[in-house]
Amino acid sequence: MADTVTITDNRTGKEIECPILTGVYGAPVIDTKTLYKELGMFTFDPGFVTTASCRSAITYLDGEKGILLHRGYPIEQLAENSSYLEVCYLLLYGELPTQSGFDQFRLNLNKRNMVHEHLERFYTGYRYDAHPMSMLIGVTGALSSYYHEAMDINDPEDRDLTAIRVIAKMPILAAHCYNYAMGHPFVYSRDDLGYVENFLNMMFSVPMREYIPDPVAVRALNLMLILHADHEQNASTSTVRLAGSAEANPFACIAAGVVTLWGRAHGGANEAVLRMLAQIESADNIPKFIARAKDKDDSFRLMGFGHRVYKNYDPRATIIRQVCHDLLEAIDTVDQPTFEIAMQLEEIALKDDYFIERKLYPNVDFYSGIILKALGIPTPMYTVMFALARSAGWIAQWLEMMEDPDFKIGRPRQLYIGSETRDYIPIEKRG
Ligand code: SDX
Repeated sequence: MADTVTITDNRTGKEIECPILTGVYGAPVIDTKTLYKELGMFTFDPGFVTTASCRSAITYLDGEKGILLHRGYPIEQLAENSSYLEVCYLLLYGELPTQSGFDQFRLNLNKRNMVHEHLERFYTGYRYDAHPMSMLIGVTGALSSYYHEAMDINDPEDRDLTAIRVIAKMPILAAHCYNYAMGHPFVYSRDDLGYVENFLNMMFSVPMREYIPDPVAVRALNLMLILHADHEQNASTSTVRLAGSAEANPFACIAAGVVTLWGRAHGGANEAVLRMLAQIESADNIPKFIARAKDKDDSFRLMGFGHRVYKNYDPRATIIRQVCHDLLEAIDTVDQPTFEIAMQLEEIALKDDYFIERKLYPNVDFYSGIILKALGIPTPMYTVMFALARSAGWIAQWLEMMEDPDFKIGRPRQLYIGSETRDYIPIEKRG
């Protein structure tokens, strides 16, 4: 007999059996598809705290044990041994590549590592001081105005080519946000450079001198990109899936993911961490801000702390924390006071009962913002870097959804709490 959960409506005594579906790891799910048809009711779960939206084989998280797997490989092993581009391959195709497979992947990406010259005109419509995420939203969406020769989302070859185009073009669009913000010329992608070196070159090289990326920066950025590549059904990935479920243009779906990631409760947190540290200004002020974070009447939250899923330690934070501490010890920077505040804030929060009781630990964004600042990347670019990394996860999840036998347009319901039916009153008769 199949495992089921019995749901009984004690108002009528009617009951239904809902199948329990079990995955490879993680909590089983209750299949409530027949709930409305049989009991005339919906489930209610604001924020989807306990709702599984899909089957997926890409990423597995265990929030209690602090586990993160990509296609079964622990994030700790990928961080130690892999490269961001190899993780992109793994997310897209489900297996680590052979050398020939990886070489072909690189070749496919190099064939697509230009954007139409006209796309660069989109940037000039932005003010010089526009937030780079506002630019990235626009130009990513603008990609949907190209490539119509390969945009049949029901054609597997077109879908695969779109994935290659996203991985190849997002670093160009991201780097151009920085070029434009700095008033520098746009820098073209280069086939002869590795993925991270190429991105840093597109961001920082200028016509008058050769740019040699710092190996410390390359290693730190490669790790950052790996740690941010995918993360199950987070808010921005769920947005990409919902837009894709309506059969929207895949580049427009990625743009929708960029929009959601910008929120400071999500991918905007890394930038918000640095703004918070600047607001704290001195270690003497830390107790005041900790008190504000606890005050229900104060909207202030400790940016970079807490997580919807990880109620232990964010395994990515464990990995990146050490890189962050090593980097801060290795460099001598004018930003040292900022980093001192960050380290003291981390220490105080980890010992404070409010944070311990609510299992609010530093998340990956707490450390990634500090690392990016130490690498000399301007604060407004941090979420652009996150979007660059996550674009691999977004397009991998989009591909998986498009091939899902359960594919259907996403359309949640609601609990209506508005007015009862009432008749229209002509304006001259209103009070
Ligand atoms: C990312 O989903 C993902 O996987 C996201 C991500 C990914 O890779 O895609 O991991 C990336 O978004 C990481 C999170 C980055 N955001 C921040 O650092 C912003 C600060 N964090 C909070 O906004 C918050 O912790 C969330 C949004 C991350 C999680 O919020 P939840 O799960 O809805 O938790 P909650 O609001 O229910 O909080 C539970 C309690 C509440 O207090 P009580 O009502 O129980 O008294 O903890 C408190 C909250 O007020 N709380 C905080 C807090 N976060 C939660 N209090 C102070 N500071 C905080 N940061």
